[in-house]
Amino acid sequence: MQSLSSDLDVWERAWATYDEATYRTALSYIRPQDVVLDIGAGDLRFARQAAGIARHVYAIEMQPKLLTHQPPRPQNLTVICADARHLIWPNTITAGVLLMRHCTQVKPYASRLRALGCRRLITNARWGMDVELMALDQRIDWQQVEIGWYACLCGQTGFVAGPPEKVSEKVTWQVAEVENCPDCSNVR
Ligand SMILES: C[S@@+](CC[C@H](N)C(=O)[O-])C[C@H]1O[C@@H](n2cnc3c(N)ncnc32)[C@H](O)[C@@H]1O
Repeated sequence: MQSLSSDLDVWERAWATYDEATYRTALSYIRPQDVVLDIGAGDLRFARQAAGIARHVYAIEMQPKLLTHQPPRPQNLTVICADARHLIWPNTITAGVLLMRHCTQVKPYASRLRALGCRRLITNARWGMDVELMALDQRIDWQQVEIGWYACLCGQTGFVAGPPEKVSEKVTWQVAEVENCPDCSNVR
């Protein structure tokens, strides 16, 4: 029988830590009034630090072995051992955290957070590199991008090509926050 997590990417299911600079950047986006949902929290090393700043942190991790032999938890840290995809999330979340470079589930996670009224997702999953603060507000439709880089709510990033005369410094560096990109329907 296949396990529940078998349809996740093999890297996504694996536990790996990030460096302190990555955690520091992610922590810099957390505010004292935040209710944080840390999706794929690993051994809670980030969630514990986040709980030192935020009002409350919900940490979801599917691997029970990472949650055993833990020191006492702060009172404002709730730990849930489950698959985040199949869990009802609290409707008080103000900031999602997704530190998981290989995540294939950005679209459902971002959409669910947005539906709950959450406006911020702190993640390294979209570009697969550094941590960014992703705004979950309404964004422009991909079709409106004439030329240049885009980053979609679904997690995909790309470049819309255009005529050479339209290329400028702004086009090179600016990233349009979009939804409904061509990959949206292919993403789970
Ligand atoms: C790359 S590790 C990062 C851990 C943690 N975010 C950190 O930065 O220290 C990703 C973690 O996400 C967990 N994970 C992946 N998909 C999950 C899901 N759907 N539900 C719960 N945990 C998940 C994995 O078990 C793994 O521990």
